[in-house]
Amino acid sequence: MPEPRHFITFRDMSLDEHKLLLRRSAELKAERAAGNYRLDHLGGRPVIMMFSKNSTRTRVSFECAINELGGHAIVINMGDSQWTRGEPLSHTSRVLSRYVSGIVIRHTKEAELVELAKWSSVPVVNALTDERHPCQVLGDLLTAAERLGGVDALASRTFCWIGDGANMLNTWLEAAAIFGFPLKLACPEGYLPDRAILDRAISENSRIRICKTVSEAAEGADVVTTDVFASMGFEAEKEKRLKDFKGFRVDSALMGLAAPGAVFLHCLPAHPGEEVTDEVIESPASAVWDEAENRLHVQKALLEYVIPAL
Ligand code: CP
Ligand code: NVA
Repeated sequence: MPEPRHFITFRDMSLDEHKLLLRRSAELKAERAAGNYRLDHLGGRPVIMMFSKNSTRTRVSFECAINELGGHAIVINMGDSQWTRGEPLSHTSRVLSRYVSGIVIRHTKEAELVELAKWSSVPVVNALTDERHPCQVLGDLLTAAERLGGVDALASRTFCWIGDGANMLNTWLEAAAIFGFPLKLACPEGYLPDRAILDRAISENSRIRICKTVSEAAEGADVVTTDVFASMGFEAEKEKRLKDFKGFRVDSALMGLAAPGAVFLHCLPAHPGEEVTDEVIESPASAVWDEAENRLHVQKALLEYVIPAL
């Protein structure tokens, strides 16, 4: 049996594969807009989604994607499974592999996904961990490509990150390393991204720049993106973070420094008034609803790619 193709980090796909996925996502999006919701790629095969953190977009877009590919979605909260009662991952993984054709998982520690994948004979897809959110960045790149001249233009667009150096920024750094686009980041002191991910990305892409101010980061950017001050699991730090992130809100003045026609992205859920103003979310520059929709299309393309047809 061939080795399963996992998608745990953005680096698990090559540049050519990412471009293929983005182009296929656009095709699937167009087909769906024309009324074709029924593909028979999965031929009734089940895919499991496991969650140990909350979700709206990921949960629903993956379930739609699995169903529209002709599969069957099973969803479990990890708290209901034997995993959280201590069943070894190596057991859980091999058992699930006997039932399903793919495992989509949202969890805290990414090392546990890696362990799960090691024992799995079916593809494991990262639906967010403390460290990364690759499906989201794939959807974000589709959105940027739609607004800014297509997939081949991505390498020459300037991306800017404002805020927390958490799972989203870690993933943007990996995407920048693969696509080669300029990425300017402005993070509050003490909130830089993962050091190893940052160093590796910078060693591969000299156009990644750590900026001293949010203005410097936003200036001339084609895409301005941010995320909440306190990600899931960090809620206890909320009050401290509100202070530490002062000045790291994307508002109309900051967007005004970006390039003409710049796009605002946010993975959502947002906290309007904290990391971004309502005015920016509701502005013509904002692509957040397309971005959320695009999760569905990229995940359909991804599942179609990693789970071969029968
Ligand atoms: N952006 C995102 O992953 O949203 P959910 O947490 O609602 O799935
Ligand atoms: N950084 C956020 C992303 C949510 C989709 C979190 O981990 O909560």
